[in-house]
Amino acid sequence: MKIISTFISVLFSIIFSNFLSKNQVVFEDKETYFKFVYRICFEEIMKIGNIEFERYPVFLAPMEDVTDIGFRLLCKKFGADMVYTEFVSSDALVRNVERTLQKINICEEERPLAIQIYGRDPGAMAEAAQICEESDPDIIDINFGCPVKKVAGKGAGAGMLRAPELMLEITRKVVDAVKKPVTVKTRLGWDENSKIIVTLAEQLQDCGIAGLTIHGRTRSQMYKGEADWTLIKEVKSNPRMQIPIIGNGDIDSPEVCKQRFEDTGVDAVMIGRATFGCPWIFREVKHFLRTGKKLPPESFRWYLDVLKQQVLESVHRLGERRGILHSRRHLAATPLFKGIPDFKQTRIAMLRANTLKELFAILDEIPEKFHLD
Ligand SMILES: Cc1cc2nc3c(=O)[nH]c(=O)nc-3n(C[C@H](O)[C@H](O)[C@H](O)COP(=O)(O)O)c2cc1C
Repeated sequence: MKIISTFISVLFSIIFSNFLSKNQVVFEDKETYFKFVYRICFEEIMKIGNIEFERYPVFLAPMEDVTDIGFRLLCKKFGADMVYTEFVSSDALVRNVERTLQKINICEEERPLAIQIYGRDPGAMAEAAQICEESDPDIIDINFGCPVKKVAGKGAGAGMLRAPELMLEITRKVVDAVKKPVTVKTRLGWDENSKIIVTLAEQLQDCGIAGLTIHGRTRSQMYKGEADWTLIKEVKSNPRMQIPIIGNGDIDSPEVCKQRFEDTGVDAVMIGRATFGCPWIFREVKHFLRTGKKLPPESFRWYLDVLKQQVLESVHRLGERRGILHSRRHLAATPLFKGIPDFKQTRIAMLRANTLKELFAILDEIPEKFHLD
């Protein structure tokens, strides 16, 4: 008996060790480990097109100016099950705009990955999808949810929620234009009086999409108020719906994430703003979903090191000035510095630093100055 159990343990260890180390998974005890292995082996696997995900997948939301290749790779390293590019203008792609074309450069390590496009012209959207397909993403995602004026005001992004017929035409055209699975990301509706998502979800599914992400807000809400997951649940519970439903909105902790899965039955969730200055959130959330236990915190210096790596990567890719500017959103929002007494002056200096040397001197001083290890 002992020989058999040892053999099985060794076998599992070989099979899963590569996967576990890649995803930075830590197990507290054997029981948790075996529960995890059982789940992987015997529980249902979620699929978008032919892409398989382990149970309770957690995705990095597409975010303009945030989810560039560096940040995507970092979130992937901490366990994000899928990442999305920033949204890419179909018109700019079709016109071969160099900066836009750079946004669809992807690399093997970030798979599975979706390239997201937006626009309001069906022909341009279909052509843009074909251009994206040449970059070989796993999925092409259509943005029908962006609320900002320069996009929604022109009828693209969430603006499409006021023109569902055009939205469906675009979706059909994109699905027909490419071989890759096509998914859609949208909101509940245009405003409080037009929450059309339950019917719209069925119509989008009939266009042939392979998955649907719903942000639980209307366009009018922009990012205000609380995300409402009740309609996301209604879409998921609709017996006509066959495609995976990905829920999105206000997930900012492992506990909230688990609750959303349990309350709504969604197939996956997507995290956006809570990743700012906190790419390790995926590691914490995934651990909690797998084990029901919170991951013990790392040292202050460990988290600080991650942020410093993030800054270095941005500087390496974008140059010193742009790299530092790009990192400021993360440094400003990171939960790592929240609640440190008398931190205000350091914070101001940190967000004003213009050179890497200046910025790192400020960051390196923090642990000693504030007695944090
Ligand atoms: C700075 C920023 C940029 C965003 N850019 C995009 C985008 O390019 N495409 C998209 O579909 N959604 C975009 N979003 C919306 C997010 O993907 C997500 O739906 C929203 O932030 C709600 O999720 P959260 O509460 O987890 O942040 C953006 C959000 C933010 C804050």
